[in-house]
Amino acid sequence: MKLIYQQIIILYFIAFFQLSKYFIESFTVYTKKIDITKINCFTKWNNNRVFELEVYCLKKLKDNYNCICSKKRKHFPEIIKIYNIGNKKNIEMTNIGTSLNFLSKIERKKYKNINFDEQIECILRNLKKSGIYHADMVGYGNNMVINEEGDLGLIDFNIAFVKDKFNDLKENNNSYKESYNKHINNNYDSFKSILTNVLND
Ligand SMILES: Nc1ncnc2c1ncn2[C@@H]1O[C@H](COP(=O)(O)OP(=O)(O)O)[C@@H](O)[C@H]1O
Ligand SMILES: [Mg+2]
Ligand SMILES: [Zn+2]
Repeated sequence: MKLIYQQIIILYFIAFFQLSKYFIESFTVYTKKIDITKINCFTKWNNNRVFELEVYCLKKLKDNYNCICSKKRKHFPEIIKIYNIGNKKNIEMTNIGTSLNFLSKIERKKYKNINFDEQIECILRNLKKSGIYHADMVGYGNNMVINEEGDLGLIDFNIAFVKDKFNDLKENNNSYKESYNKHINNNYDSFKSILTNVLND
């Protein structure tokens, strides 16, 4: 009889732990701070524009969002609020997981056998629908995230290319053009190969 009570307590404890983990994850936020007095070292853009671009992309992605995965997922952060502190513009957004480069060996192992094709397809379709090319799919997966549910996400639109918007940035900017030509067509390959490389590392 005592053993049953013990088991019930353990089960309650596990359920409580799982629930609080779920609760904490779904309510945690990430605040991206952008110092508008600085310039982006890669694109040489004023950080004020970098901020505008990030906000524009996240809003546009949200407005046009349609997850086509068999299980509905959230692949992009959603803006919660924007506020200024000193020289920094703060974008408070939903935390959608852990960057691939921060995954532990155990987590990599856990995610490695999941087939992400459907999710990659879904993310790319959503980007296309919004006329956005991410262009910063860093090799170690810093800008790709995974959460406990195995939902794949894409973050960091600092240097994204946006169709018919911010056109002035393209003119007279060689790094932009160089980067644009390099990244514009390789989203799927970048995505797939980075994911596979990192998870199998
Ligand atoms: N919405 C988010 N959800 C979870 N983690 C995030 C989110 N936004 C940023 N991060 C974490 O913060 C890091 C830096 O944010 P990022 O937007 O990539 O800025 P940076 O332009 O400095 O690379 C990311 O690599 C990721 O680990
Ligand atoms: Mg980043
Ligand atoms: Zn999806």
